Amino acid sequence: MTSSRGEARWVLAMPGAEDLAEPMAVALGEALHRPRIRRFPDGESYVRIEGPCAAATVTVVARLHDPDPKFVPFALAASALKDLGARRICLVAPYLPYMRQDARFQPGEAVSARYFSAMLSPLIDALVTVDPHLHRIDDLARLYPVRCRVVHAAALLAERLRHEVAEPLLIGPDEESEQWVSALGERIGAPVVVLSKIRRGDRDVEIALPPMARWRGRTPVLVDDIISTGHTMTQAIAALAEAGWPAPVCMGIHGLFADDALRRLRAAGAAGIITTNTVDHETNAVDLSGLLASAVADILES
Ligand code: R5P
Repeated sequence: MTSSRGEARWVLAMPGAEDLAEPMAVALGEALHRPRIRRFPDGESYVRIEGPCAAATVTVVARLHDPDPKFVPFALAASALKDLGARRICLVAPYLPYMRQDARFQPGEAVSARYFSAMLSPLIDALVTVDPHLHRIDDLARLYPVRCRVVHAAALLAERLRHEVAEPLLIGPDEESEQWVSALGERIGAPVVVLSKIRRGDRDVEIALPPMARWRGRTPVLVDDIISTGHTMTQAIAALAEAGWPAPVCMGIHGLFADDALRRLRAAGAAGIITTNTVDHETNAVDLSGLLASAVADILES
């Protein structure tokens, strides 16, 4: 496609992001290309770009969860695009990794959120992502010195929830989840409570419930931005069960499901598990490709 600015535009689907990139290319009316990527016998990456690069604007769709093995092929592809003459690169990374280590909690720790931005930003001109984990740093623009668009999943999660649960009580498992659970509560007009969490380690969390008796009779729905090891959700399920609440539905925007998180979540008694397709997973029930395509069109035209 040639844009209103007279430039060639197309979409590059990095491996593992084809299911998002294909509908996005259709929605944008642009051609879709895939890079050729393979590993050399020594483990290094080979990357070849076949789309027309000269003066082009290329939207690269890359799922960057489990980022360490994915970042180098992405960086090589982005560098090749620029080297071959691409004018602008818009990265669509539906899950933006390395956002949680946004401070130095112990002496000597790497502040990964800042350092990852410093590695990624020089490779791109624009960034589109979904509900990044903004906590101590409250604005993505303070971290990423490129043009940014944040897509919010709340509207489509709300739509899904309306079909799923008649009288929900929305529960954020910790203080950090307050922004996401409140956004959902406002959209569906449901009450919201936020639990308190103490995290002692990657797989060691403790959850406490505030007074919730006035909402008895409603179906609990746990809402968080990220499900990683699943310990936050499983501990919240256990705390709810101990207080006599029925099994909750678990909603996560980004379902990373590290290790055996899905099995443990089911074993803990989750009544249902709903995620968006920012991370490709069997629990995906909300497709964000349309919102991502709109965000790309918007950021490239503005
Ligand atoms: C916390 O900072 C996030 O909002 C999630 O609560 C957290 O990432 C969940 O992690 P896990 O599933 O490992 O408990």
